[in-house]
Amino acid sequence: MAGNSSFVVVANRLPVDKVVGPDGEVSFRRSPGGLVTALEPVLQQRNGTWVGWPGGVGDSELPEESFETGGVRLHPVSLSAAEVERYYEGFSNSSLWPLYHDAVETPIFKRRWWETYRLVNERFAKAVADDAAPGATVWVQDYQLQLVPALLRETRPDLKIGFFLHIPFPPVELFMQLPRRAELLKGLLGADLVGFQRPLGAQNFVQLARHLLGTRVRRGIVEWEGRTVRAEAFPISIDVEEMERLAGAADVQARAKAIRTELGEPKTIILGVDRLDYTKGIERRLKAFRELLSEGRLTAPETVMVQVATPSRERVEHYQTLRVNVEREVGRINGEYGRVGQPAVHYLHQSYSRAELAALYVAADAMMVTPLRDGMNLVAKEYVGARADGGGALVLSEFAGAAAELRQAFLCNPHDLDGVKDALMRAIHVDPVEGRKRMHAMHSHLRSHDVRAWADAFLEALGAAS
Ligand code: ADP
Ligand code: F6P
Repeated sequence: MAGNSSFVVVANRLPVDKVVGPDGEVSFRRSPGGLVTALEPVLQQRNGTWVGWPGGVGDSELPEESFETGGVRLHPVSLSAAEVERYYEGFSNSSLWPLYHDAVETPIFKRRWWETYRLVNERFAKAVADDAAPGATVWVQDYQLQLVPALLRETRPDLKIGFFLHIPFPPVELFMQLPRRAELLKGLLGADLVGFQRPLGAQNFVQLARHLLGTRVRRGIVEWEGRTVRAEAFPISIDVEEMERLAGAADVQARAKAIRTELGEPKTIILGVDRLDYTKGIERRLKAFRELLSEGRLTAPETVMVQVATPSRERVEHYQTLRVNVEREVGRINGEYGRVGQPAVHYLHQSYSRAELAALYVAADAMMVTPLRDGMNLVAKEYVGARADGGGALVLSEFAGAAAELRQAFLCNPHDLDGVKDALMRAIHVDPVEGRKRMHAMHSHLRSHDVRAWADAFLEALGAAS
């Protein structure tokens, strides 16, 4: 059955999570993560339908009602408790997530997770097929839904199907560890265009298709089942104007000043903002700060660190261990270098509004973005977007996709602790004229490479793909 939407985006998550209060009252809260940050303005501009999970546990047998927010039609797909455990926490976030991030934590494979992953992908594909008008464009997002392109093509060969992977696509040797590797790859090959953050991801994908399925590849285009599948890089970005507007607003500027006062008017504020995820390098960043304090290269309370860590995937064991380790390190630093009423690290395991994040970006003298591996990292781009004033300095891991574009950041290898420490010291002590030059160069790059340019480039390439 076809629907009437000519543009459908399908992602594991909707832009809002449904929260049911103690008395059964329903409210909505913005969903975490970069995917939502990037796609929300795109959908608002294009009047599309967004198919996704509203968070929580629902009755997966009963279809939920579609609803509208901010000019976007949302079509919720429910997951049962067992499905959240096996599809989301299991196969997506305990098998695929670590494997695709260089196996920085050991991936776990359990056979029963796969069946649920397939089943949930089928449910998403059916929801899209019900919404999409004949000949519609469908844009499938991220690693949780890699089977959807082929499942959709089976039932709706009339659709234009694009897929975008927000996280890195691993080299062949790593991908080959996956027990259901051929099925996953065939799932992706159902798309007309497969997009990646970096050219290396596209190369890995093409090589894998050749190696695993013996496909023919001509000029980067894979030939599969009588069709062609293009693989290309489309580095994602942010709504730069929105971030500039937010950061320039009088209330956000005032809040940034208030934050500095609340922190005790330190000379230097170092900021980290991440989902609490082991790929983000939060532990190493804290350790670098502790070593700089112990060596006397930095002193507290003249320098303070603020680490905001949004709760994420809290029932997955790797994340529970990470939280314990991060909180232990924060306690250790404050125990050794804090004073009464003056902690050296302010650790906030909370989610904030866009305005509060913008105020933190405006207040920060140095921003540390030090993932061990990251598809892009939008926090790095948000910080640059918020600093149209040319203030601040960005310390950025070479292993974040953003490092390919933000070349004027203080780049570092997060595995080399001394290198991270040196990069932070250079960022803190940068000559103000040079610092502004660096920030302005990155800011002007982002202005011409914002999230709309990203969506336009992908959708134009999808339109041209045969
Ligand atoms: P990922 O997609 O892995 O979460 P990104 O850096 O690409 O990483 O995107 C993270 C997004 O989540 C950014 O838009 C950032 O502003 C937002 N975010 C991070 N921490 C918080 C927080 N504590 N409160 C609200 N939003 C946050
Ligand atoms: O792109 C990374 C990503 O996994 C998105 O797919 C996701 O929406 C975001 O991070 C946040 O993760 P989660 O949806 O598991 O909370």
